[in-house]
Amino acid sequence: MNRPKHIAIIMDGNGRWAQARKLPRVIGHREGINRVREIVRAAPDLGIKVLTLFAFSSENWNRPKKEIEALMRYFHDFLDNEVKDLDKNNIKVLFIGRNDPLTEEIQKKMRAAEEKTMGNTKMTLVFALNYGSRQEIVDAVKDFAHLAVKNKVKIESLDEEFFGRFLYTSNLPDPDLLIRTSGEIRVSNFLLWQLSYAELYFVKKCWPDFKKEDLKEAVEAYSERKRRFGGIDAK
Ligand code: IPE
Ligand code: IPE
Ligand code: MG
Repeated sequence: MNRPKHIAIIMDGNGRWAQARKLPRVIGHREGINRVREIVRAAPDLGIKVLTLFAFSSENWNRPKKEIEALMRYFHDFLDNEVKDLDKNNIKVLFIGRNDPLTEEIQKKMRAAEEKTMGNTKMTLVFALNYGSRQEIVDAVKDFAHLAVKNKVKIESLDEEFFGRFLYTSNLPDPDLLIRTSGEIRVSNFLLWQLSYAELYFVKKCWPDFKKEDLKEAVEAYSERKRRFGGIDAK
């Protein structure tokens, strides 16, 4: 069976899940964290080597202050409570996104989680936190330009592979499969460069309803796809 090695997920629909139950939106986020735990546990058995989860976008700062505060508290608690277990399960944790304006405290916990788990090999779990793909590309161009003006890199040396090394995702393979929950059919500034040839998979279910069986279904759907990368099917 042809399985995706790297799955990226836009975990969307927490707010609508809660609203449909006449609950506050933050309850949807809280339930969403239970799905993160479940999906992370199930992923390695499906052959997934890298799992990237979109947790908070650079545009999510446009939300009401109260909701942002609740989300930050959940990230904080997640880092406090889950990293030990992830480490025990041989999972390497990474974060992509800009640091500012995340609090010093959260940033410290993120770095500590990365350091603690950096030798782990079962699966790499990437959290896109305060992540925006256009920002990432702009940051990469700036980093390259800084080196170029100091004559540390040659402009002619820039190609796709080299450019990729300036992205937050350097050292990670491109996603094979992108999953988005909640029925929205868009990428919302997520991994624009890296998703060039990813298979896209949209499900109606909101993230708090996305169970390990749903992940398995997505993996099976992927295995039926024919990826051509611009070529033609091999006979
Ligand atoms: C995804 O769910 C979680 C984050 C963006 C942090 P939403 O909060 O976007 O839920 P909906 O899309 O409003 O239902
Ligand atoms: C994308 O969802 C970001 C995350 C899931 C973290 P949004 O809910 O922010 O996306 P839009 O605003 O509907 O495009
Ligand atoms: Mg949403």
